[in-house]
Amino acid sequence: MPETGTLPGGRLPGDSLGFALVGCGRIAQKHAQILGQKQLPGAHLAAVCDLRQERAGALAQRYGVPAFIDMHAMMRQLRSAIDVVAILTESGLHADHCIALAPYGKHILVEKPMALTLDSADEMIRVCDQHRVKLFVVKQNRWNVAVQKLREALEQGRFGKLVMGTVRVRWCREQSYYDQDPWRGTWAYDGGVFANQAAHHLDLLTWMLGEPATVFARSRTALVDIEAEDTGAAIVTFRNGAIGIIEATTATRPKDLEGSLSLLGEKGCVEIDGFAVNRMKTWNFAEAQPGDQLVIEKFRENPPDVYGFGHVAVIRHVVDSIRNETPALVDGLEGRKSLELMSAIYESIETGREISLRFRPSLCRLGVDERRLRNSP
Ligand SMILES: NC(=O)c1ccc[n+]([C@@H]2O[C@H](COP(=O)([O-])OP(=O)(O)OC[C@H]3O[C@@H](n4cnc5c(N)ncnc54)[C@H](O)[C@@H]3O)[C@@H](O)[C@H]2O)c1
Repeated sequence: MPETGTLPGGRLPGDSLGFALVGCGRIAQKHAQILGQKQLPGAHLAAVCDLRQERAGALAQRYGVPAFIDMHAMMRQLRSAIDVVAILTESGLHADHCIALAPYGKHILVEKPMALTLDSADEMIRVCDQHRVKLFVVKQNRWNVAVQKLREALEQGRFGKLVMGTVRVRWCREQSYYDQDPWRGTWAYDGGVFANQAAHHLDLLTWMLGEPATVFARSRTALVDIEAEDTGAAIVTFRNGAIGIIEATTATRPKDLEGSLSLLGEKGCVEIDGFAVNRMKTWNFAEAQPGDQLVIEKFRENPPDVYGFGHVAVIRHVVDSIRNETPALVDGLEGRKSLELMSAIYESIETGREISLRFRPSLCRLGVDERRLRNSP
């Protein structure tokens, strides 16, 4: 910890960072387990909050921390014990919660997608900057060891000119998954497979291939009754000339099949598959390097579920970045990049046209509460 390191609340450098969770639903179980069981040195669970008392109470009891139903009461009462607030609420609420919490001066970790509209993402970035808090977006697949290995090869220039990148999400979400909470599959709070499940894969594609220039997409709602899509495909052209293909569906049956990424360049190609882009499948380069023949064997651990292994790595990175004052790998501006592609995909779906980025969404329904619009004068 550098001398200049300023932990919120006047805590001593070297103290473990206290994380407060806002939202105690499904993904909170993962965060709470890592922090509550002190799986990482330097980070612990400080408090939990959910509008649903029973959810906050259950986590509080399991990990011996205070429970709240009002996030403002939590922030006021535990100001000196909290260093980072993790926003684990419904996607369509991330922006409101981030904007409301930033003035408390605690760093913010927000689940993916960071927001559902570009305007609200911009406001999150602005407010966090204004209050001098770091904004981290959870994109845990970036820390998958196979993905890190691919990125290393990319940074070394081993691919030469990039030709094509493909991401595939072929997961299974039955009607019962969408029915468990009213926000799932709605335009206002979730979106469909592109906004929810494929948010990780859009991020990986843009991380590898850079800035998109245009996108054309199609979608349908194939096997479930939800507002948004469960199936879609998109073709992206990137400013570096490469082409990107996105195939995304939660209508794979009867179970999850894969979450994968492939990258093709003039001097090599890499494929990573598995449930959550974890398992190195192909590692072929025209110019071999020592150790290449071991890569497939070393980088092929498939996680037990589609959440993957990466949340531990994300939280470790948050701690390091705060302690050492180093940049966040996925800060607000970085998180915004895949949100921009996501919004353009939805704009293309609505208009039936290829969309050129930069653009201002006009017909894209993601993040728009149509019921509220219909009721407004
Ligand atoms: N990184 C990943 O792999 C991953 C996986 C699953 C979910 N997620 C993301 O995490 C977010 C939450 O998903 P989930 O499946 O856990 O949802 P969930 O519905 O299970 O949990 C959300 C919780 O937030 C609570 N909440 C809403 N408003 C609140 C407020 N003002 N104060 C306190 N609590 C409030 C709700 O009561 C609910 O319990 C979504 O954005 C989703 O996309 C990410």
